[in-house]
Amino acid sequence: MPIAETETKGAAGVALAERKDVLTVIDRRTGKSYEIPVAEGTIRAIDLRQIKTGPDDFGLMSYDPAFLNTAACKSRITFIDGDKGILRYRGYPIEQLAEKSNYLEVAYLLLYGELPTRAQYEEWTHHITFHTMLHESLKKFMDGFNHDAHPMGMLIATVAAMSTFYPDARNIHDPVSRQKQTWRLIAKMPTLAGFAYRHSLGMSYVYPDNDLTYTENFLNMLFRIPSKSWRPDPVLVRALDVLFILHADHEQNCGTHAMRGIGSSHTDPYSAVAGAAAALYGPLHGGANEEVLKMLQEIGSISQVPAFIKEVKEGKGEKRLMGFGHRVYKNYDPRAKIIKRIADEVFQVTGRNPLLDIALELERIALQDDYFVKRKLYPNVDFYSGLIYQAIGIPTAAFTVLFAIPRTSGWIAQWGEMLGDTEQKIARPRQVYLGMGERDFVPIEKR
Ligand code: ACO
Repeated sequence: MPIAETETKGAAGVALAERKDVLTVIDRRTGKSYEIPVAEGTIRAIDLRQIKTGPDDFGLMSYDPAFLNTAACKSRITFIDGDKGILRYRGYPIEQLAEKSNYLEVAYLLLYGELPTRAQYEEWTHHITFHTMLHESLKKFMDGFNHDAHPMGMLIATVAAMSTFYPDARNIHDPVSRQKQTWRLIAKMPTLAGFAYRHSLGMSYVYPDNDLTYTENFLNMLFRIPSKSWRPDPVLVRALDVLFILHADHEQNCGTHAMRGIGSSHTDPYSAVAGAAAALYGPLHGGANEEVLKMLQEIGSISQVPAFIKEVKEGKGEKRLMGFGHRVYKNYDPRAKIIKRIADEVFQVTGRNPLLDIALELERIALQDDYFVKRKLYPNVDFYSGLIYQAIGIPTAAFTVLFAIPRTSGWIAQWGEMLGDTEQKIARPRQVYLGMGERDFVPIEKR
């Protein structure tokens, strides 16, 4: 609580005015001074409410469109230092996880805070493996989509529909129910994605195969021709698994914010994941990987790169270099560095994606250009990931689905943390009302 200078002492018996961890605010409208405690580099926005011009004043609020400088939660899951290009899950550097771990192990780490022991890992993978099947009625639900339905639209709608198949998911305060929905969501996302892809081709669905790993199984559901035996290339399996690790969580981004916001009304996790996936779908967020590919195709050749960069610069924000820039990273996105390395390994198996040369040239020019340097615009996670997906044979429209699959573990981890946080309530921002004052209704014939 902010306490006016003349008022009492803090918990330790030290007057707030004498403490160092306090912000002194002088309101020149009234001449009053306030002492606002600072903890963990923040002040509590609600403390500003005490600053009033008079008894009828509502009190001061902070105005922060798009949350440029507002922490909406305390979290112990993912750490990012955007200036230094650092990303850690539960303290582990992303580079180490990408090199030494696998997606299911990382999902466990995000959800439960520690890397699993062997026994925990085996139990975890067993539960995920045995929850991959879809209810046949859910399959029929997917059949109802038009052949050219966007895979993300199908995924979002079908995840939301899953809440009707698992009504026990509404028991969000029951740890046993929450555990079950966690297995179901992580296990079924690849199946939904596989079915959505096959539906767009008019091909029969490939059911999950419990003998395969999580990532192998996903590729199998995408590409296996039922009449043939098929095993995905291990290099591609590993590449996709690393991409899943890199996309698993990214603290309070737009999709995760949607997950927490929707979840704060205590809705079931399927509905909240559908909302988070809808946020991810947008071209400024996870939809950017699809846009990067379209952009590279539009540029068409290396010789056209300078003209495209010129258009972006002259467009003054109208036209963007997709896959560049980030709200938090003002340095190279550490995920993009890892992805660039994986791309080389994948292209050794699949052959070089000809769009790579255009991407490399774009990056080379942009990183030297004053416009991008001044604004600290670097390649983000989406800049190279689409080239890998395309080389693996995944159609452009399905790229964002490949982001949503691994991000599901991050969403659920963040949702669980939010539900367990006693400081959290239903999310409900304030507004600055600038509309009309009160006026009398005018009948239609007099308008
Ligand atoms: N190309 C060209 N200019 C850009 C780009 C870009 N990709 N990104 C930002 N800028 C410019 C803006 O026009 C603005 O210029 P100004 O200061 O002259 O007005 C300045 O850089 C700052 O941009 P903001 O929009 O304020 O940055 P913000 O932090 O709000 O946006 C975002 C971040 C949305 C990621 C933005 O960089 C962007 O649109 N990038 C392209 C889309 C993309 O790749 N998204 C994926 C992000 S990663 C993820 O979500 C998984």
